[in-house]
Amino acid sequence: MRRAFVAGNWKMNLSLAETRALVEGLKAEVGDETRIDIAVGPPFVYISEAVNAAAGSVIKVAAQDVYFEEKGAFTGEISPGMLGDVGCTYAIVGHSERRHVLGETDALIAKKLKATLDGGLKVILCVGELLEEREAGRTAEVVKTQIVAGLFDLSAEAMANVVIAYEPVWAIGTGVTASPEDANEVHGMIRALLVEKFGDAVAAATTIQYGGSVKPENAETLMGQPEVDGALVGGASLKVDAFVAIIRNTIKAKGLD
Ligand code: PGA
Repeated sequence: MRRAFVAGNWKMNLSLAETRALVEGLKAEVGDETRIDIAVGPPFVYISEAVNAAAGSVIKVAAQDVYFEEKGAFTGEISPGMLGDVGCTYAIVGHSERRHVLGETDALIAKKLKATLDGGLKVILCVGELLEEREAGRTAEVVKTQIVAGLFDLSAEAMANVVIAYEPVWAIGTGVTASPEDANEVHGMIRALLVEKFGDAVAAATTIQYGGSVKPENAETLMGQPEVDGALVGGASLKVDAFVAIIRNTIKAKGLD
């Protein structure tokens, strides 16, 4: 059965010293927690520091992005091999800020995802609709397009290393969350797509996180939804207490306590 997974996406925040302090703080609180999976997502330049600080604990490190080539003349880019080399376990691809601020397309995201898996890392694929798309009743269509483009060329075996994060763009960093029922509905729709393409076993085994203003106060109700398997957390992952509370509330909501 799929595992619950809480990951932090720090975005472009914190310093070297703050990276160490945050990971050490988490390690002291949840460093040996095995009931769910836990990851932190620092900026590229702090990945090694986070990996070193997390050593000896269950905390894994995720990159916030990755490039699809292994090496060469790609100024400013970082390859899956480089991420693996410094001890990174996951790469996030297709985050809404990459899609909508940096202009990444589904085609580029699909290449990054494939290269990440080929490079031996796990991937967190983010999908989600804009407010105007939701208001126009296009949520299912938009999310389906992103899922099909990102995942439908993969083998069923490759899906073992894929996590999906449903993050409605209008809920990210806004303090507004999807209602637990709306989140559950979209997660169910994503899982139905996985059933169609990869079969029941893969669909049942794939972790689908919710992201968008997840906080200690709303984590338990959101994570209590049957189709919601964890959280991708932005703002609230920057403080030990808040991130630990989200982890503990997820454990509780999933009946793992
Ligand atoms: P937020 O960000 O929790 O600050 O809304 C979530 C995300 O962008 O992954």
